[in-house]
Amino acid sequence: MEHFVVKGEVTLEGEVVTSGAKNSSVAILPAALMAGSPVTVENLPLIDDIFTLIELIEYLGAEVKTNGSGSITIYPQKLQRWEAPYELVSKLRASYYFLGSLLTRFKKAVIPLPGGCPLGPRPIDQHIKGFRALGARVGIQHGSIRIEAEQLTGTEIYLDVVSVGATINLMLAAVTAQGKTLLENVAKEPEIVDIANFLNAIGANIVGAGTDEIKITGVKELGGTSHMVIPDRIEAGTFILAAASTNGRVLIKDIIPKHLESLTAKLKELGVDLEVGEDWVYVKGCPCPQPINIKTFPYPGFPTDLQALIMPVMTKAKGSSVITENVFEGRFKHVDELKRMGANIRVDGRSAIVEGGCSLSGAQVRATDLRAGAALMIAGMLAKGETVISGIEHIDRGYEKIEEKLNSLGAGIKRVKQE
Ligand code: UD1
Repeated sequence: MEHFVVKGEVTLEGEVVTSGAKNSSVAILPAALMAGSPVTVENLPLIDDIFTLIELIEYLGAEVKTNGSGSITIYPQKLQRWEAPYELVSKLRASYYFLGSLLTRFKKAVIPLPGGCPLGPRPIDQHIKGFRALGARVGIQHGSIRIEAEQLTGTEIYLDVVSVGATINLMLAAVTAQGKTLLENVAKEPEIVDIANFLNAIGANIVGAGTDEIKITGVKELGGTSHMVIPDRIEAGTFILAAASTNGRVLIKDIIPKHLESLTAKLKELGVDLEVGEDWVYVKGCPCPQPINIKTFPYPGFPTDLQALIMPVMTKAKGSSVITENVFEGRFKHVDELKRMGANIRVDGRSAIVEGGCSLSGAQVRATDLRAGAALMIAGMLAKGETVISGIEHIDRGYEKIEEKLNSLGAGIKRVKQE
């Protein structure tokens, strides 16, 4: 077990490069198993979720070759298993993408119910409803989802809730279904476009990704490709918020600024000075931010994944700010940890009211999930004194060398092994 010791009252300065998108990569790797020939994926983030997926893919029988940092080639031809082990699947949410990809590859799959961040109830009823509509039989036995179909057939599926995971899983399952599939009320996240581009590159016929309606015409065979993962907008948002919160001056490179518009608009309201280029943003924090209100929504709304991360800067604002979490129930576990550091935050149903004007002080806190953990790192850099963060395995699941990147900007974060 390890923890982070974070030095307080730092001001970040310098430049930092963003890694490839976690939420694209964790779907593209399972999707690669549907390919008929080798697939090379580049710009993969070096994070624990990716290492776990590679282990899972090797377990299923595919060969994986590492080409260099963030680049692997998957040889899916020798894939032989359609059942995944609990020990690996339970480590991450995205393991449910093997349902869609192995269903396409073998017409069957057995996958234990997935793990991932504890963000309150996370049902997968929309995935199951869609698989069934395409003609699959789906059952849950002994903690695993068993799915099979003789033949998948295209159909119309209207999602009851806008779900990133269900949109991707149903794209995977429909790619070789007979005839046409229409997915309606789907998620529009940039990662969905990235995955659709990947699938089209291996021979799928998908139109409309990035809108709320996706049309898929089933194809008979899929080939291979080489694909470059898009930049991680949430990691970029983390650095932007770390810079803004510490009153820093930071250039964040290798990003797609369009993907971050909901965040940059809010930062301008806070009073943060931003210069935006073609693939970079330069952030100049302000010592006295204005209070702001935020409501999380599916893309292009303000991302739920940045909700915890914007809270620390609100504690410095001249007045009270309100965050309303509309995507996940129970995604305010970081509030209790921030309160240990002296934050004045009240949760009322789906809203958190953050009173500004307080100065945080270092404390012992626990990362309850991936983004909550990164939010505590930002809070620790703002606070007076030292903050000790445990539970950092959550952070390692989704951030590549986060302490090294922040330390290169002037942070003082030590990774310490617990005795
Ligand atoms: C993905 C992201 C996660 C992000 C979230 C919302 C990955 C690996 N994770 O998670 O980082 O926070 O999108 O942007 O890409 N829901 C149902 N039934 C379903 C599926 C979802 O009711 O079958 C609900 C969920 O409980 C939640 C909402 O829909 O309230 C959105 O969830 P969803 O978009 O599916 O999130 P994930 O794909 O799990």
